[in-house]
Amino acid sequence: MSEKIFTLKDNTTGVAAELQSHEGTLGPEVIDVRKLYAQTGKFTFDPGFASTASCKSAITFIDGDEGVLLYRGYPVEQLAAKSSFIEVCYLLLYGELPTQVELDKFDNSIRTHTMINETMLRLFNGFHHDAHPMAMVSGVVGSMSAFYHDTMDIQNARHREIFSHRIVAKLPTIAAAAYKHTLGQPFMYPRNDLDYSSNLLNMFFSVPAEDFELDPVAVEAIDLLLILHADHEQNCSTSTVRLAGSSGANPYSAIAAGISALWGPAHGGANEAVLNMLEKIGSVKNINKYVAKAKDKDDAFRLMGFGHRVYKNFDPRATIIRDMCHKVLEKLGRKDDPLFELALELEQVALKDDYFVEKKLYPNVDFYSGIIYRALGIHPSMFTVMFAIARTVGWVSHWQEMITDAEHRIGRPRQLYTGPENRDYLDVAKR
Ligand code: CMC
Repeated sequence: MSEKIFTLKDNTTGVAAELQSHEGTLGPEVIDVRKLYAQTGKFTFDPGFASTASCKSAITFIDGDEGVLLYRGYPVEQLAAKSSFIEVCYLLLYGELPTQVELDKFDNSIRTHTMINETMLRLFNGFHHDAHPMAMVSGVVGSMSAFYHDTMDIQNARHREIFSHRIVAKLPTIAAAAYKHTLGQPFMYPRNDLDYSSNLLNMFFSVPAEDFELDPVAVEAIDLLLILHADHEQNCSTSTVRLAGSSGANPYSAIAAGISALWGPAHGGANEAVLNMLEKIGSVKNINKYVAKAKDKDDAFRLMGFGHRVYKNFDPRATIIRDMCHKVLEKLGRKDDPLFELALELEQVALKDDYFVEKKLYPNVDFYSGIIYRALGIHPSMFTVMFAIARTVGWVSHWQEMITDAEHRIGRPRQLYTGPENRDYLDVAKR
């Protein structure tokens, strides 16, 4: 890592701060402002953190202008074409692609951690049938900190490893329990003879009363979606996991915090919001009206599934998923669904519209993922849960990286205070 000195000067007072700048292996140079307050008495101000690198990380790299996404250095396109979700999990957690022996051992460990404590299943009975699955999943994952509190010493490397396998393995089981609760169907236990994505689909769709046959196209699509959503550097939910975990909190609680952050429509909740938006638009003939609403500064409506904080050229995940979206619609014979026709038309209109072109607002990964999930028969309220299942390995990898980083400190930002100055308390009679 090469280092340079960057001088920041206050032209009014002449006070200058000598700040080091650092270069990573890829991406923009960063100015190290850690000594800025001590040297100048000033903070930096960056709401939304668009210019702030919150940590060093060796997990995922994004170049938003070029549409590049690398997991541990490997282009997501190559992983999507050649790898499997379980191998990508290993890569993210351990930093290298596994040998066959390492992969088999890891896969076996994940398969044998899929069951959840029966008491945890009873927690679902406390939720109303129409509780949102994200609320249930976040709550039940948070409860894992109670189930595993005594076996979760964050300073113990083996405890951290077991935690990472447990949570990756159990997320589909918890998600499926939430889904079955919503549907009013009996919970289906995990099957350890099935690979990760097949097991997930089996728990979602099988019922005790009849045989269920897995569709290979559905399994392929789910595995691809899991790979594409597995990590995305310091996004909102990952930063939340890091921040919550930075206090030394039980990591299951930190993951639950990440799930809550993911739920918002500006983040992982966008895939469900896309479907709701398409239903609201209703017909191809209303597209122009809604595109006009999205462009209107006085209207809060946004085209969900469009735009990204980092990608300003294209979202490489969206490019990959778009092809899969067409393949799934074709193979499952869903191309004539009016909602899909509407989605494909909206995509074309927005791609050509000056407003979206000038602001570099392209369809993102969530525009297409919701369409695929719908074609596979997954209810919209489960879309963001699917995202959470995939992102869990990313959250865990970042939590591990943070906890084992000698430079890590509790996350504690400062502020630009705009409230009243110091004033005296007035007795109620005098107010
Ligand atoms: N529809 C209409 N206008 C938009 C949209 C949109 N979807 N997204 C951004 N804009 C406009 C926005 O009004 C602003 O205009 P102006 O400069 O005139 O004020 C400009 O584009 C920049 O927007 P921003 O809100 O400052 O950008 P941001 O980086 O803070 O937000 C975003 C990024 C993804 C939250 C935003 O584009 C958005 O709300 N998109 C819709 C929700 C969505 O699809 N989210 C999923 C993101 S991908 C999955 C994930 O990684 O979580």
